[in-house]
Amino acid sequence: MQKKNRGSQKRGSALFSYGRSDAPRMICRGGLRTAPSRLAMTLDEKVRKTLGELGVADAAGVEALFAEVRAAIEAERASLISCGAASESERDKLCKDLRDRWLARKNGILSSIDERWLKTSPRELKPSVGRSFNTLRRESAGLEIAELTRDVPLRAHAAAVDNLSAGDSGTAVVSHIIREVPGDLTLPGNRRPLGSLHPVTQMQREIEEIFLNLGFQIESGPEIESVHYNFDALNIPESHPSRDDWDTLYIDSQTVLRTHTSPVQIRSMEKYGAPLHIIIPGKCYRHDNPDASHSPMFHQIEGLAIASDITFADLKGTLDFFAKKLFGETIRTRFQPSFFPFTEPSGEVSISCIFCAGVGCRVCKESGWIEVMGCGMVHPQVLRNGGIDPEKYSGWAFGLGVDRFAMMKYDINDIQLFFQSDVRFLLQF
Ligand code: DAH
Repeated sequence: MQKKNRGSQKRGSALFSYGRSDAPRMICRGGLRTAPSRLAMTLDEKVRKTLGELGVADAAGVEALFAEVRAAIEAERASLISCGAASESERDKLCKDLRDRWLARKNGILSSIDERWLKTSPRELKPSVGRSFNTLRRESAGLEIAELTRDVPLRAHAAAVDNLSAGDSGTAVVSHIIREVPGDLTLPGNRRPLGSLHPVTQMQREIEEIFLNLGFQIESGPEIESVHYNFDALNIPESHPSRDDWDTLYIDSQTVLRTHTSPVQIRSMEKYGAPLHIIIPGKCYRHDNPDASHSPMFHQIEGLAIASDITFADLKGTLDFFAKKLFGETIRTRFQPSFFPFTEPSGEVSISCIFCAGVGCRVCKESGWIEVMGCGMVHPQVLRNGGIDPEKYSGWAFGLGVDRFAMMKYDINDIQLFFQSDVRFLLQF
């Protein structure tokens, strides 16, 4: 705008610009007062004066004056369109007001321009005023009621409710809605089905609950893990097959997607020292092809107890208690020797088959037992790697697959069902 004015100044006009406050000031008896000046005049004031009174003496001045009028029309029209109206009746009124302000035969701005600027203009300016006035008339067609009504939007109903004042009662709001929104408001709404926790999450929470009640705390660690925490610190040698990139998803030579939750054992030892009683639920990743019992992403819960004088008897007692809490008092547990690099001795825990009560069935392959987790006494070197003195402390650990537990508990024969997000499956939980 300013640029434009400067331009028109060069052409010798510069009389009509919005927002100028550099009107000359004069001291009078009442104090400092602003003298009425054509620079400070509003458009409504200008249309009540003749061109002579406004100091417009040439064609460039006429052009600038009419440009100001056209800009004012556009601004007022745009403002109404952008505000919109709360209702049809309000829109009708706003459109009529704007139309009348400009186009009313009596007292409309265009009528004033006709009377004051055109009819009284000096002979030499008449052609240019006449031309400008005709252009103005053509361009003001957008102020006709039909045009405005088409362009002024009805504001969304919510905005209309917003417009009710803060003090309006609920009844006022409701009656406003009834007035403004067509249709039967007593019809029931669309009910969105409530979701539920994923079966794996439910299983995880159930297991967590049992250990929380035993005084364990929940710990977590990163899924993108260093080779140090995932393997080295857990005593897993470079030559161990699990470190092969056929089994492990490497991000780079020193970084993996953790293959188990055991690395959080070391992280927690470093963070808290001993004694320590924690469980570590979380996602793990392996380079496995998906099938009914394998998924490249799965869930584990790790358990770790470190204190002075912890023995294998504590491990057996705790896990037996856990199995009975989870699957029922009649469940029996069996511990068999096994091997894990980070525990010594290591064991595999089985529970009596929950489907045939240990008699033998298809699920337990007629053995009566289902293997459910690995466990053992924390290897002294692993304690040392975590900064704990194995001469002072001992500990036990276990690791179980949450998805497998959920499959057992809910009698699901395909682990893939957990990760397909099929609502027909998930709705059953
Ligand atoms: N980390 C083992 C795995 O993913 C599971 C495991 C076995 C964890 C024995 C333990 C443990 O803490 O003592 O197969």
